[in-house]
Amino acid sequence: MHKKIFDVTSIGNLELKNRLWRSATWLNLADEKGHLSPELIYRYEELAKGGVGTIITGYAHILENEQPNAGMLGIYSDDFIEEYRLFVKRIHELGSKLIMQVCYGGSSTKYQTEGRLIWGPSAVKNPSSGVTPNEMTSEDIRTVIEAYVQSARRVKESGFDGVQLHAAHSYLYSQFLSPYFNRRKDAYGGSIENRARIIFETLEAVRKEVGPDYPVLIKMHCTDDWAEHGLTPDESLWVAKELEKRGITAIEFSGGNPDPSYPLKRPIRTKILKREKQAYFFNATKQIAAELDIPVISVGGHRNMELMEHILNDSAISYVALSRALFSEPDLPNKWKQDPTYNPRCTSCAKCWSPGGNICILDRKNKVFSK
Ligand SMILES: Cc1cc2nc3c(=O)[nH]c(=O)nc-3n(C[C@H](O)[C@H](O)[C@H](O)COP(=O)(O)O)c2cc1C
Repeated sequence: MHKKIFDVTSIGNLELKNRLWRSATWLNLADEKGHLSPELIYRYEELAKGGVGTIITGYAHILENEQPNAGMLGIYSDDFIEEYRLFVKRIHELGSKLIMQVCYGGSSTKYQTEGRLIWGPSAVKNPSSGVTPNEMTSEDIRTVIEAYVQSARRVKESGFDGVQLHAAHSYLYSQFLSPYFNRRKDAYGGSIENRARIIFETLEAVRKEVGPDYPVLIKMHCTDDWAEHGLTPDESLWVAKELEKRGITAIEFSGGNPDPSYPLKRPIRTKILKREKQAYFFNATKQIAAELDIPVISVGGHRNMELMEHILNDSAISYVALSRALFSEPDLPNKWKQDPTYNPRCTSCAKCWSPGGNICILDRKNKVFSK
């Protein structure tokens, strides 16, 4: 079958109007407790009006006092359910599906780190943030798994079309998979089977809570590309196949590592304008997708419609996800529908962050949003 970006497809009972996804993108626009703000809702409305089939929210924190960044959404209490129901309803009215990404951050944080309890698989200093977490006890592990389970329940009760577990970008579950961060000697460290155990146990417990049919997705790495420190492509393939057996609905593959000595191997890469720099996790993701039956979503440097369609047809990848290009131009899907040769204005500078609410640098002069 020749795949096209604007094909209508389905994942289980979920009908998707095209193969374009908005990858999870933190906007720094929620209030200090993680509740929705008018500006944040507006930004999601713009995305939905812009034609993207599926939107994954920015990472939402699952424990009240564990917030890795400012202005994140929260999902740590049942108090969120009512406002999220209205939010989801609004995005559905505008024609997009909405999935919530849930996350325990850990040491990949520079936000209010003073005196805050931060857990990690081992007490290893994070090379990017400089934060050394507390090594988790087995009771701490149970606490985090239960927080994921309760968050997934709230996501389902709010009417979201699915939940995505964040196991990428050196947040806690990505750290468990990495031999650099995970030096444990117990059942959660050592072999890849042990390093992935917390994720398998989370999936099993979440499935029990939300049932067999509710979409439970994961974002993980096709490779950390980090010599002996990171998850290798073979290990990633093994974890992905296990997750498939254990009932994951779909996997989004990112990659890269946080080591400052590998600046070109980050999850969010800059200067990727040229075609050969785009789709920078394609080759590693393609190898894994070939071995899986569940849908695979590719993320990282997708900028060109013709190249994205080539990728879809040169591999078993089913969907492409974009963050920065849609951040800069939420109506990109509609523009591509009109003109498949349209070049996004995003220059991949990765200067999207801003203390008053993240905004594309190209819009900063005429800032329309304020927190
Ligand atoms: C401003 C910003 C916020 C992001 N927030 C998240 C997030 O909350 N969760 C996540 O998994 N990735 C996050 N990412 C990473 C993106 O989802 C994506 O993996 C990465 O930017 C590469 O895709 P791109 O080249 O399309 O931007 C963020 C990226 C940016 C630029």
